Parts: sequence; C-alpha cells; structure tokens
Amino acid sequence: MNKNEIGIFDSGIGGITILNELKKILPNENFIYYADSKNNPYGNKSLNELFKIVCDIVDKLLKRNVKLIVIACNTATTRCINMLREKYKNVIFVGTEPAIKVACDKNFKNTIVMATPGTINTERMHQLVDNNIKDNQNVYLIPCEGLADTIEFKTEKEVEIKVNELLTPYKDKDIDSIVLGCTHYPYAKKFIKNIFPNATLIDGNHGVSKQVKRMLKEHDLLNNNNKKGNVQIIFNK
Ligand code: DGL
Repeated sequence: MNKNEIGIFDSGIGGITILNELKKILPNENFIYYADSKNNPYGNKSLNELFKIVCDIVDKLLKRNVKLIVIACNTATTRCINMLREKYKNVIFVGTEPAIKVACDKNFKNTIVMATPGTINTERMHQLVDNNIKDNQNVYLIPCEGLADTIEFKTEKEVEIKVNELLTPYKDKDIDSIVLGCTHYPYAKKFIKNIFPNATLIDGNHGVSKQVKRMLKEHDLLNNNNKKGNVQIIFNK
C-alpha cells in the first residue's frame, strides 16, 4: 500500500483546529483524523493509561500505512512523545506544545498559559518556561481542570462559566498575552477575550503545520500531484 495519508489525533474535536491549518498549507495532502472523544479528557489520565490509549491510536493509524502522525494534543505530546519515539522508531511524529517561546520572544510582559492539569504538571512544561522566560517577564501557568471536557461535551454557556471561573482571578495582573496550551481552547476564544480584551491569544497551530510540511519535504513524502486532498474523520464515541 502506498503511503498516502497523514494521520492526526486528539481527544475529540480539539485537533480539528490544527487540521484546518494543515489543510490550508498542504491542500494536496490526504488526512485521516481520529477524534478520540470516548477517552476525553486526556488531561486527567495517569501516564500509563494515557500511553496505552495513545499507542492504540497510533497502531490503528499505522494499519492504514500513514506517512506521518500529528499528535494534535498538547497533553499527549508533552507527556508521551518521547516514549512514542522510543517505541515506534521508524515513525515520523510531529507534536504540539504550548507556544510559550512565541510569547516570550515577542516580549510580552505578563503571560497566562492555559493547559490541562496533565500538561501543566510535566517537566517539559517547566523546561519551556525556564528556557524562554526573561527577567522582566511573568508567566502564570493555569491548570484548566475540566475546560477541555466542557468544550467537548457541554454547552457554550457552560464553557463561558468555566472560563470565567478559571481566569477572573488573574484580571488585575495586566495580562498582555495568553497561550492556548490545549487544542480545544481556541473554541473558547471569545469568552477569553471578554475577560482580557487587550491580550493577544497565541496557539501553536500554524507552527505545527509548518513543521509537518518541513518533515514531509525532508523525507520526500509530499504529495506532488495537483489533486485536492481529502479528509476522513473517525469518531471514537
Ligand atoms: N486537546 C488536548 C490538548 O491539547 C487534550 C484535552 C483533554 O483531553 O484533556 O491538551
């Protein structure tokens, strides 16, 4: 079987925000998106449990002979990508990490990083802060317990209430940027903006897509025909 598809997965609809970006910059590629709603939220799982879930998805995607796998989830990336690379030595993985470097490089002074408790508690997260923060900058790490699953399963009103509950305590901190460190959170942008109308919202989606393109080029795996690619979405409910 020809290697023709790019596999993408997340714990539900979150990674679709990355899929949309990928379709823009790689219009001739075919995508297979695995929405693992059944196991949402990833952010509260133990490492063993999460690694098993993620390996099952990787195995399913490899059965379809995908040429590259995008982990469209910050939680699965920050917690499992090293273990995945160790276990699947010949697979090309592109992960998603909170765009803390972007916020620090742009010299924002007071940055909030919103992510799942699973992501916030990783060593990788603390490395990202330590490696990028400058003396005159503050970074507030907020474990957004329950936000990804509220976005996945509940109403807009409930998302708004959750966002208000999580962010209102930071209202007086002169926040100028907010890193959306979970691929579900772009769906809550308007509620975040209501609290911090002047803050810049940063997600890593464009960066991930550019990295996918780079890796495909490097491994000579780009679809060079001029046919528009297609997208298949598998929902695990
Ligand atoms: N969308 C995911 C992320 O980027 C995970 C959300 C969850 O299932 O907890 O972290």
